Amino acid sequence: MSDKAIETLLAEDRRYPAPEDFAAQANAKSDIYDIPFEEFWEREGRERVTWFEPFTSLLEWELPYAKWYLGGKINVSYNCLDRHVEAGLGERVAYLWEGEPEGERSSLTYAELLAQVVRMANVLKELGVGKGTRVAIYLGMVTELPIAMLACTRLGAPNTVVFGGFSADSLADRSNDMGCEVLITQDEAWRRGSTVPLKLTADEAMAAAPGIRACLVVERTGNEVPMQAGRDHWLHNFEVPDDPATCPPEPMDAEDLLFLMYTSGTTAKPKGIAHTTGGYLVGAATTHRYVFDLKPETDVYWCAADIGWITGHSYIVYGPLCNGATSVMYEGTPDFPDKDRWWEIVERYGVTILYTAPTAIRAHMKWGPEFAEQHDLSSLRLLGSVGEPINPEAWVWYREHIGGDRLPVVDTWWQTETGMILITPLPGVTTLKPGSATRPFPGVDAAVVDDQGEEVGPGGGGYLVLRRPWPAMTRGIFGDDERYRTTYWERFPGMYFAGDGARIDEDGDFWLLGRVDDVMNVSGHRISTIEVESALVDHTSVAEAAVCGRADQLTGQAIVAFVTLKGGQEGSVEMLEELRDHVAMKIGPIAKPANIVFTPELPKTRSGKIMRRLLRDVAEDRPLGDTTTLADPAVVAEIADRAVAQPAED
Ligand code: PRX
Repeated sequence: MSDKAIETLLAEDRRYPAPEDFAAQANAKSDIYDIPFEEFWEREGRERVTWFEPFTSLLEWELPYAKWYLGGKINVSYNCLDRHVEAGLGERVAYLWEGEPEGERSSLTYAELLAQVVRMANVLKELGVGKGTRVAIYLGMVTELPIAMLACTRLGAPNTVVFGGFSADSLADRSNDMGCEVLITQDEAWRRGSTVPLKLTADEAMAAAPGIRACLVVERTGNEVPMQAGRDHWLHNFEVPDDPATCPPEPMDAEDLLFLMYTSGTTAKPKGIAHTTGGYLVGAATTHRYVFDLKPETDVYWCAADIGWITGHSYIVYGPLCNGATSVMYEGTPDFPDKDRWWEIVERYGVTILYTAPTAIRAHMKWGPEFAEQHDLSSLRLLGSVGEPINPEAWVWYREHIGGDRLPVVDTWWQTETGMILITPLPGVTTLKPGSATRPFPGVDAAVVDDQGEEVGPGGGGYLVLRRPWPAMTRGIFGDDERYRTTYWERFPGMYFAGDGARIDEDGDFWLLGRVDDVMNVSGHRISTIEVESALVDHTSVAEAAVCGRADQLTGQAIVAFVTLKGGQEGSVEMLEELRDHVAMKIGPIAKPANIVFTPELPKTRSGKIMRRLLRDVAEDRPLGDTTTLADPAVVAEIADRAVAQPAED
């Protein structure tokens, strides 16, 4: 982010104190910040979840690994389902599901969800899944996705959900890295009126992931897909012998692995971010309760993310279900069949809490407020944002046009690694500032430090760090202790380095400024520059590639690639499309570069290092910085000439 943009942000002086009526009924009052750290997490550990055996010690902290709620025995699916049913809440709706094709709707009560989880768990057992068996899940936004996750947790089988937009290669890499033995997928998914061939992609992935010995397939579109005898099984007609109506939840140790979520880092290989059972569940449920002020008896909560990302894990599945919430789950895109689809959903179900990403807000902003105006949104009482820095304009638009100029907007900062929201307003307490995530959540110790790791005072800028563990923090990168230590803990000894730039204002409020490493944030999705570069050089015509992000009004950042073709070939429109498709094939459509600039040479220092700073300047159309260290200074000028913007891809 440029200095000018930062100054503009800090000059933002609109203030929105918590409305009095909201504050009066809020789950979190201002004294929540006064509770000592250990007392807070001890209390939440007892109140938010039910233990089969209580924990005997709160925290063991051997940097960089924390253990929480030691000695506790717990099962996530029991906490998300059985205990609510046992408490007489079986008839409460857990999910109000809305399919993308119009008119396809269903609802699942907690009792029904439990029954389906039990059934799938018993099917998985038949397929040999037990405690410790690793399962990959490759599903769209169908109810079988949370059902599959909960069925795994019921059996004590760690899972990894791979976003349905990822390629066969990405799915295979993740399955292989985790050592998955079973894959759960669906025939096809719906997206913007067309079908996405998940099973076909899964077949391709399985060809490269020989460890997967069984594949369970959910029927969604009903179109024919190949099924390999002996390996592939339909869920709907799977016969479990003597079909038991129960499946006892496996008592898990608080520190047993719950799931891996793969995310991009600064190398081509995605990291399997590990989350364990007890601390993760307590962290997700606690933040969900206080940040969203959840009243499970009356609220209709909607997190419009995809469960394939961490947001959906913590705030569509584990947090809300643990809290006994009623959630909306929507299968499709916001503009299908028209741009008022979200608002129709809010009106139909009487949604009270909406949680989404700045990219989506900016898309709605671009389409215009008339789509929201067609619907009665008066049921809403709280709005949330996550995934990327939210510009004050989008924040204020969200509040005015969706929130009737009266609702609190909570801008929540967190990461795949943090597992739970860490910096956020509390809606009944905090005075809101558009563009600021405001304060660390109770019990969280966040700071902004300079290059030397010294804390900067109010008004200062630098790097965001965390100085104390929190229950849902990652327990490391699966199988790669070294990478975990160097990525997060080496830069500032004793502190977790998040990879984000931040500033602190005079009141001590945090303003997040985006990534400071080689990770781009496109529509709230993390993609590493090196991952895209490797996908490009994998193409037979590409000699060299360098990738960087540029600011984009809609998606936050967009991907720009600078490509040198082999044998002095010149770029062409056909080659451009071919390379975009190649990246989509290697990683997934979300990683397609918006622009590709073909250039006979990349700017390099005399020692052969690609000068990324200069490429970023070109991509951002900024005046070029110092070029004197370049081996051939003329190269950049030529690239800048060639960097004629190409139409951005969806
Ligand atoms: O750069 C920050 C940005 O998203 C990154 C984490 O991405 P991911 O692990 O995919 O998780 C996204 C959903 C939690 C962070 O390092 N980010 C996330 N939320 C915010 C944000 N940047 C600014 N403000 C936020 N509220």
